Amino acid sequence: MSFETKSEVLKWYEKQPRVLTKDFVAAINWEAVKDYRLDQKFVPVLLYMRDVEALTDMYYEELRRTPTGKDPVISKFMERWSVEEQTHGELLNRFLNEAGFETDDHWQTQTRKAVSKIYTFNTYLVTTLTNLVGKRFTATHMAFGAIHELSTTQGYRRLAQLADHPILSQILNGIIREESAHTNFYRSVARIELKNSAISQKLARFIVKHFWTPVGSGAKSGKESNYMINALFGCDEGLEWIDRNVTQRIQNLPGFDNLSKVTDTIREITSAQNPSSV
Ligand SMILES: [Fe+2]
Ligand SMILES: [Fe+2]
Repeated sequence: MSFETKSEVLKWYEKQPRVLTKDFVAAINWEAVKDYRLDQKFVPVLLYMRDVEALTDMYYEELRRTPTGKDPVISKFMERWSVEEQTHGELLNRFLNEAGFETDDHWQTQTRKAVSKIYTFNTYLVTTLTNLVGKRFTATHMAFGAIHELSTTQGYRRLAQLADHPILSQILNGIIREESAHTNFYRSVARIELKNSAISQKLARFIVKHFWTPVGSGAKSGKESNYMINALFGCDEGLEWIDRNVTQRIQNLPGFDNLSKVTDTIREITSAQNPSSV
């Protein structure tokens, strides 16, 4: 799929039907969740993913303050995107409940409250600074978004494979289809924005190289983020998975050739910590 303009990308996205419809949710055999074993080590992973999905709202609010968020095409995408991410969080929460893990009725509010004031302030500061750069920063936002969506998708794929729980897999496969559409939107817009601007390419590459961190880290604690990464990718095969499915795909973006930031970061985390120690 190759697009010439952002509007074409949006048109494509809007043609994608929602996967996680009411019918999809109603067709899940929730009563049978308990009939299959869920390895306890994946519970913190599911909680992390649930919370990160819910925190999309905070990120969305910040982005709306920037020229990127004010772009009519991108803001139209984000309206639907943020709703879809909320559904992902809600479905993961329901799965945990059906599997016997009680969660608070107000978990979304608690998750938001748990984000440190320092992180919130830093995010505010970064947003303010990006406003000074203006529209040139859109390519960076989109490249960041593409990496986040792609790595999230791969996290879900890996979780489905490792947890090997048929109903969780059914839910995750639905989520993955929506995440793949998000990835395609971000990556396609990033490509368009980067293609014609050497400055945007340099800026985006610099920011990703120096400031990219795994999705959710910062908003969630480093301990939680590292646990999730170790549980899903803490072996040679996991690292190779990240390299093949995230790093190498991001290297196709204009100006991103040979950038191995994602693999390097995940390698650093997995070599420093053993998941069983958390
Ligand atoms: Fe999501
Ligand atoms: Fe997403």
